Amino acid sequence: MISLPKDFENFTARLIETTKNIEGLLSEKEMKFLALLAACPTAEGEILEIGSFKGKSTVILAKGASLTAKTRVVAVDPLTSPATTDPDLKGQESSSGDFQTNLRNAGVEKHVEFHRKRSRELAKIWNRDIRLLWIDGDHTYAGTKSDFDMFSRFLSNGAIIAIHDVLHNFEGTIRVFLEDVLLSKHFGPAGMCGSIGWSQYFKDSNIGWKFKHPKIKLYQKLSRLLPYSVLNDDIKGFTKIKYKVLRSRISHRDANPSKWLREVMFIE
Ligand SMILES: C[S@@+](CC[C@H](N)C(=O)[O-])C[C@H]1O[C@@H](n2cnc3c(N)ncnc32)[C@H](O)[C@@H]1O
Repeated sequence: MISLPKDFENFTARLIETTKNIEGLLSEKEMKFLALLAACPTAEGEILEIGSFKGKSTVILAKGASLTAKTRVVAVDPLTSPATTDPDLKGQESSSGDFQTNLRNAGVEKHVEFHRKRSRELAKIWNRDIRLLWIDGDHTYAGTKSDFDMFSRFLSNGAIIAIHDVLHNFEGTIRVFLEDVLLSKHFGPAGMCGSIGWSQYFKDSNIGWKFKHPKIKLYQKLSRLLPYSVLNDDIKGFTKIKYKVLRSRISHRDANPSKWLREVMFIE
């Protein structure tokens, strides 16, 4: 039985304050949602982050996990922004110095098992169950698809997958969420919080199938954005307005922690 940690609202408010000076591309509602995912384990196993940059989500996950029995977060990133979809390093060779400083300042460095390498290198040695898979690395189709394929097979029964930037015009993130998550019978409850697409994994495909109606509804709305992300590198003018209108029809508001917990506590 999972329950919301005591005083969770104040905890997330303090967390947003602590991480406000860490450069990154997470909105406040996404930060609160990531903290919720880390603080409320729905399955056994590790939290694995792919793509750390300067450590914003790493710190949030580690702080969230500190409220649980198993406080460790595993993170992987070469810190060199190698993908075409990565944030600009603005002349720096890597984000390593800032990453280490930010973890140290937040007091979480001892709780982060960091692998300074590409995800495919970590995949060669990975053999642990995962309870939360946070994908925020290479957003190209090849990059996100291989992250999903390499690590989703380690998801424990009831684990959560969360993919960033599904609503931000990157081909990989939206396609993998649509095709590999929403269209898979192994994934049950699913939704969007900000630009994070999330779902809960079940070994038994009959369970995921029970959630087909809300998943199909989300799929239909989200798939209308897909051609823009695949065919338009740089959406401008009227096309951008159309994209934004379609995006506004997808519910991606703040998560209600108690409601989210009721959704993911469905286990037969
Ligand atoms: C969008 S940023 C991550 C942002 C971070 N999660 C945050 O909260 O600020 C993408 C990161 O993915 C990393 N990256 C790109 N390709 C990668 C790969 N193949 N394996 C692991 N990390 C990768 C980049 O170095 C970059 O730091």
